[in-house]
Amino acid sequence: MRLLMLGTGGMARLHVKGFNEIDGVEIVAAVDTDEARLTEFRELHGIPRGFLSLEDALAWGEFDAVTNITPDRVHYPTTMQILDAGKHVFCEKPLATDHARALEMTEKAETLGLINMVNLTYRNVPQLQKAHELVKSGAIGAVKHIEASYLQSWLVSKSWGDWRTSPTWLWRLSTKHGSNGVLGDVGIHILDFAAYAAGVDYATAFFRLQTFNKAPDSRIGEYDLDANDTFIMTAEMDNGAMAAIHATRWGSGHLNDLRLRIYGEKGGIEVTDTNFNPKLMTCLGDDVDAAKWTEVTVEPTPTNYARFTEAVRSGVNAEPSFRHAANLQRIIDLAFVTEKDRVEHKANGSPAKAV
Ligand SMILES: NC(=O)c1ccc[n+]([C@@H]2O[C@H](COP(=O)([O-])OP(=O)(O)OC[C@H]3O[C@@H](n4cnc5c(N)ncnc54)[C@H](O)[C@@H]3O)[C@@H](O)[C@H]2O)c1
Repeated sequence: MRLLMLGTGGMARLHVKGFNEIDGVEIVAAVDTDEARLTEFRELHGIPRGFLSLEDALAWGEFDAVTNITPDRVHYPTTMQILDAGKHVFCEKPLATDHARALEMTEKAETLGLINMVNLTYRNVPQLQKAHELVKSGAIGAVKHIEASYLQSWLVSKSWGDWRTSPTWLWRLSTKHGSNGVLGDVGIHILDFAAYAAGVDYATAFFRLQTFNKAPDSRIGEYDLDANDTFIMTAEMDNGAMAAIHATRWGSGHLNDLRLRIYGEKGGIEVTDTNFNPKLMTCLGDDVDAAKWTEVTVEPTPTNYARFTEAVRSGVNAEPSFRHAANLQRIIDLAFVTEKDRVEHKANGSPAKAV
């Protein structure tokens, strides 16, 4: 598979690593509108060609697929162009900035019969795959209750650099720059993580979003800091199970930590991923009476990069697909509706709306 990389920022290096591990993949060119970044990236990874626009790369056309690693708001216009050019697309999450665009992308890819996948990265975690398998096999019985969180701390910690001076973090804080805040950025991961492991989907949801004041007039340069930086969600799943899910960028002591617990009628499962160190624990059988948890060892599973490559080879699409990501986007859109309703009701002095 001849692969074009679109975007050479922070996440792009993980795509190079992920695709370089797979036989038969050749990264033939990279595109970035920032020439300095593009040059540095190509030199570092030995990428033979570079383009300053997607249009120039499409005019050249000597590739089979594109991995789209641009900022969230750029996914829609660029992916539509790539699909129109008849190339397969592996797109970063979130697929788009709203459900309508995500659905348009999905329908175009499906109509044209092109491979379309979204990089919900935690699908790469074997412990998550094993949890999904265990739940599907009935190990914990019918799922009743889910709790999940995704904690980052880059609004407090400088471990990943200073967000005040870095465009990589600043666009994530600004709706004008296409960000849906922590919900769109990492909330989408934990929503997928929880529902995938539990083998269920979201039926209804209620959200609270909060954006804290972080700078004078809530602005730094061209960035209005108006995107949510903490959210709390309650949901009912399509099997009737209840879920409490939250995420924040204010989680001191947690650089990048996911935690999921699923409780069923026969037992429980916990999947954690603490700064990229995953762990799976179960409480099953006799352990339930003793409230004892046991770690489960797992075998490696194929990454999204491998599954996308295989899908392009075989011509059969794989998960997580555009359609799956568009469905998640529908839930995220609902957050803004429930948040707006709550505010309007409060402004009118009437009680917050219950969903
Ligand atoms: N799956 C994950 O775990 C994960 C982790 C981090 C980021 N991401 C996603 O990856 C994407 C990129 O994030 P990032 O942190 O690398 O951002 P970034 O800002 O560091 O990099 C984005 C790059 O895209 C370039 N760019 C912008 N518009 C472009 C265009 N029209 N054509 C070509 N290049 C363009 C920018 O110049 C920049 O170099 C985002 O959608 C983000 O949500 C996913």
